[in-house]
Amino acid sequence: MDLGLEGRKAVVTGGSKGLGRAIAGELAAEGCDVAICARDRAEVQQAGAELEQQGTTVFAETADVTDPEQVQRFIDEAAAALGGIDILVNNAGRAHPGTFETLTDEDWKADLDVKLFSMIRCSRAALPHLRARGGGRIININAVQARSPDPKFFATSTDRAACLAFTKTLSLELASDNILVNGINVGFVVTPQWKNIHQRRAPHLPEEEFFADLAAAEVPLGRFGRPEEVAAAVAFLAGDRAAYITGASLDVAGGMGRYL
Ligand SMILES: NC(=O)c1ccc[n+]([C@@H]2O[C@H](COP(=O)([O-])OP(=O)(O)OC[C@H]3O[C@@H](n4cnc5c(N)ncnc54)[C@H](OP(=O)(O)O)[C@@H]3O)[C@@H](O)[C@H]2O)c1
Repeated sequence: MDLGLEGRKAVVTGGSKGLGRAIAGELAAEGCDVAICARDRAEVQQAGAELEQQGTTVFAETADVTDPEQVQRFIDEAAAALGGIDILVNNAGRAHPGTFETLTDEDWKADLDVKLFSMIRCSRAALPHLRARGGGRIININAVQARSPDPKFFATSTDRAACLAFTKTLSLELASDNILVNGINVGFVVTPQWKNIHQRRAPHLPEEEFFADLAAAEVPLGRFGRPEEVAAAVAFLAGDRAAYITGASLDVAGGMGRYL
């Protein structure tokens, strides 16, 4: 299936590892020029070098999505390096674990900052560049807990619901600009983030056993997802085949999210 992505200019936040790295790789494989950011310089440069091996134009730079000035600079430099922006994938993020009783105000503010405000800032900075191209795509990487709250992921459940509302509302405001805004509700996908959770929760268990036990309890398909499975959905939503889809949030979650 030709997704029509050849020559498109894509920005992926948090593109150094995990889902963002897979998304950048998938878009590069489809012919996009890609820009990625993350905070760790060595990791973002390493990922950039690997993406260049795919034969595409790459801009890889450090930027913290919780810092408005760094976001503005990264997005403008990415647009200059690639020759514009057609696609923004808001992926950078991290979890703030804890129950209602243990989460502090600082945890809540940090969680909102890295999840909701990063989407707001990056979308705002990218908007003039998308408009200059006559339209484009914004794809927000969200979590299945946005619609299926779980106290084990308390801050995520609350703040991802706001990201869901942000995605829908932005799609309505930007439809007349031909900017399509969609989201992906991710379930459990094996990434460095989850490897850290394994180390924190059950370092005595082999990794496969930890993931298999959790999947058996929580995931109808009975396994964790792979980053490439999220990246494939992003490429579809970024491409011409999704030209009539906006304001949608697609679950890539192995059946997690027991709602209609
Ligand atoms: N994996 C899952 O099962 C799952 C489920 C639901 C939702 N998600 C969401 O999917 C996204 C990617 O998750 P992942 O599992 O791939 O995580 P990951 O393996 O920890 O990778 C996160 C990426 O984001 C970057 N990043 C983190 N904080 C950043 C910041 N403040 N500014 C810029 N870059 C930042 C990281 O690089 P640096 O640390 O160097 O900055 C890294 O490149 C996150 O938003 C996460 O909440 C994941």
